[in-house]
This record gives sequence, structure tokens and C-alpha cells, in this order.
Amino acid sequence: MSDTVTITDNRTGNQLECPIISGTYGEPVIDTKLLHKELGMFTIDPGFGTTASCRSSITYLDGDNGVLLHRGYPIEQLAENSNFTEVCYLLLHGELPNSQEMVDWDHAIKMHTMTHEHLSRFYQGYRYDAHPMSIMAGVVNALASYYHDATDIQNPEHRLLTAKRVIAKMPNIASKCYRYASGLPFVYPDNDKGFVENFLYMTFSWPSEQYAPPPVAIRALELLLILHADHEQNASTSAVRLAGSAESNPFGCIAAGINTLWGKAHGGANEAVVHMLEEIGDTSNIQKFVDKAKDKDDPFRLMGFGHRVYKNYDPRATIIRKACHDLITEMNIDQPMFEVAMELERIALEDDYFIERKLYPNVDFYSGLIYQALKIPVSMFTVMFAMARSAGWIAQWIELMEDPDFRIGRPRQLYIGTEKRDYVDVAKR
Ligand code: SDX
Repeated sequence: MSDTVTITDNRTGNQLECPIISGTYGEPVIDTKLLHKELGMFTIDPGFGTTASCRSSITYLDGDNGVLLHRGYPIEQLAENSNFTEVCYLLLHGELPNSQEMVDWDHAIKMHTMTHEHLSRFYQGYRYDAHPMSIMAGVVNALASYYHDATDIQNPEHRLLTAKRVIAKMPNIASKCYRYASGLPFVYPDNDKGFVENFLYMTFSWPSEQYAPPPVAIRALELLLILHADHEQNASTSAVRLAGSAESNPFGCIAAGINTLWGKAHGGANEAVVHMLEEIGDTSNIQKFVDKAKDKDDPFRLMGFGHRVYKNYDPRATIIRKACHDLITEMNIDQPMFEVAMELERIALEDDYFIERKLYPNVDFYSGLIYQALKIPVSMFTVMFAMARSAGWIAQWIELMEDPDFRIGRPRQLYIGTEKRDYVDVAKR
């Protein structure tokens, strides 16, 4: 028995033996790269639901069993024991740092938390009520115009320096997206503070008062950053990879990821979940919204439910739900929407429509409730997601640039347009 699949064109009897390639875990893949050359055909797979775009060693998902590993480490163990900058190191280097490596890494990140003073002028060009994701995408893209000392994307040292800059500067930029919209002066990073505390300080401190975020808030945000750091070949990571395959500037590739994440079908769902819960209002309205979500004639979908890969609980949602409950209890917050979310989850998971389609809560279902408890405005939720995911994006970009099979991404199509025809002068149309 050979590890191949035979594709037979029954119209002609022509056949192609395609190798089956297996990885460490997960479904094997069929190598179809000779399909066009040998059988004169393409494959078509709208949404790439059954298409592997690359070989990767960074993250493994098992959607049926709700498994998420980063470089082999289960997300539950990283959430329990690690911190965000350590997870960033792991995603980039493939191994957890020893204590000296961690000290050096933390220092390296801290040496890049500032942004060029001229970059602060970019924010002024945005309308006062611009969505923070539009600001973040524009400002991150603008980083490409500042770092001409490390533009050789074929140079591993330049790539790692760019990775440090992306990870270190995202909190600075994210905080300014909030401060600009709030009419508050920008706050410089304080490198005596940890990564998460520094972000909260840059975002929420007041020039006129001392500011010290509660440890429970730092812990909750650290957890959310870990859980959002990377997630295999999701839409925004695929956008980063496609832009990177053209050998584009890495900051421009990250901006492509930010713009893709913004969509409510993707990272924008955390913002959409809270708007949906606000619209539901209280548990008496839940069934009406569940029925809307099931109605094929209604475009409404239950935000925070369903996932292309997870056909079981998103392990991140399970962790976030518990953290959300603990935070609300510990901070003694009256968060009626948490009750609505819990009841919505219960009702949906007992409904045949959701059971048959294996629609479970995903990472976005509860995360917004934690951000709200931390007084982070709804419009900033996806900015928080982008701040975390920038670590995964830049790690995946580096892996792409190091891939021996590196080539520009250039999908084909099935043409369904009109047949060839001649131009007709406007007087005769
Ligand atoms: C993220 O890819 C990643 O890893 C993403 C992410 C990451 O970390 O990067 O995990 C982060 O983006 C999480 C997903 C956040 N999005 C939402 O919560 C928005 C609501 N969810 C849906 O839009 C949807 O579930 C998607 C976009 C997440 C997945 O869409 P798919 O895989 O294309 O699924 P589908 O549209 O083919 O749905 C299959 C069926 C359909 O019904 P039928 O045609 O079979 O009758 O399930 C239905 C869909 O209508 N369905 C839903 C639904 N999600 C799917 N019905 C109601 N409400 C929903 N939320």
C-alpha cells in the first residue's frame, strides 16, 4: 500500500498518483502540485476549508477534540504557568527560554517599546471618532517608513529585530489608539513595569494622579494575551503570509493582518458579541435571538459561536469563561451580561440546530466581558486581539520567510464569466 492517492480523470482515463504527506499530528495532506501539469485541472475550495496552505511547526489545532498546542505545549498549561512575553519567545524560537534567556528577552523587548516621536503625529490625521482598528492598521503600516536599518527580509537578524519591534511597539500604539479617541495625552512606556502593566499604564494613567492597575486586572489581561497569541492559519495569519510571500515589508504584512482581523466574522466578533448581548438585554429575549440565528432568511448569526476548525469547545473559551467568572467575583462587578451570556450558551448548546452543526462558543464569546470588566471600551476589543496576535503573525511570517518551499502565493480560479466577444462601439450598443 503506497502513501498515495490516485486521481483519475474519468473523461480521459488519465491518472495522477499524488503523495500523501503526514505531519506530527492531524490530518495528512494530499500533494496536488502536479495536478495542473499532469491532468490540466485545478482544485477549488472556497474558504480553503480543506486546503493546507503551508507546513508549520508553531501551532497545532485539533478541532474535534478542542486541542490547541503552541510548539507542543497545551494552551491550558501555558495559560496556567506562562506569561505573554514568554509565549512570544516560544512562538518565535520554538522552545521555552531558560531563566537567562528570559531576562535577555524581556530586556530586548523593553528596548523597543518606544516609537519615533514623529509617529505620534499620525494619530492627529484621524477623525476624533475613528475606529481604533483603522488607526492601528494605519500607524503599524507607517512603521515601515521608520526602520530602514533592518529591511533585509532575507537576513535572520533583521527578521528577529523586526519581530522584537512589532511585539514591543503594539502596546504603545494600542494605548495611543485609545488615548487619541479619549482626548488624553499620550503616555510614554515605563520600562520598570512588566509588559501588561506597562500597557495598562500607557492606556489608563492620568497625568494628574498616581496609577497602579489592580493585580487581578494584570493577570486577566495577561491571560487574554496568551490565549490570543496565535491560532494556526486563520484568516488574518493567512493574510500576513500571503503579503509576506510577495516579499512585502513586514510591517505592511502585519497591517494586512490587522485589517483582516477587524472583520466581525474573525477578530471583530469580540466587539460584535458585546453589542449582541446588549441588544438581547436580558435572558427573556434570548430565544428570539437564537431563533433569528437559525433562520436561513436572516443574515444574523450568533456572534461568538461557531468556528471553522473547532467542532467542539474552543479550549480558549473554556479558560476565558472561568477567568471571566473569577474576575467578576473577585472585583465584585455587577455584570448582568455575564448571566445573559451563560444562559445564551446553555440554550444554544441544547438546541438541535447548534448541536447538529457543532456550533460552540469560541474565543470571542467571553473575552469582551473581561475587557469590559477592565474598563476597556468595546471599540478597543479587537485592538486588544491584534496586540496579542501580532506575536503569532510575526512568528508565522518568519517561518514563511525560512520555508524552503517559499514562493509567492498565487491561487487560480474557475472562470464563469462570458465567452470571448468583440468590442461594440457605443453608438451601436
Ligand atoms: C475567530 O480561524 C480562526 O482560528 C479564528 C480565530 C482565531 O483565533 O484566529 O479562532 C478567531 O475568528 C473566531 C470566530 C469569531 N467569529 C464569530 O464568532 C462570528 C460568528 N461565527 C460565524 O460567522 C461562523 O461560525 C464562522 C465565521 C466563525 C465560521 O464560519 P464557517 O466555518 O464558514 O462555517 P459556516 O458558515 O459554513 O457554518 C456552517 C453552518 C451554516 O449553516 P448551514 O449552511 O450548514 O445550514 O453553521 C451555521 C452556518 O449558517 N453557522 C451559524 C453560526 N456559525 C455558523 N449559525 C448561526 N450562528 C453562528 N454563529
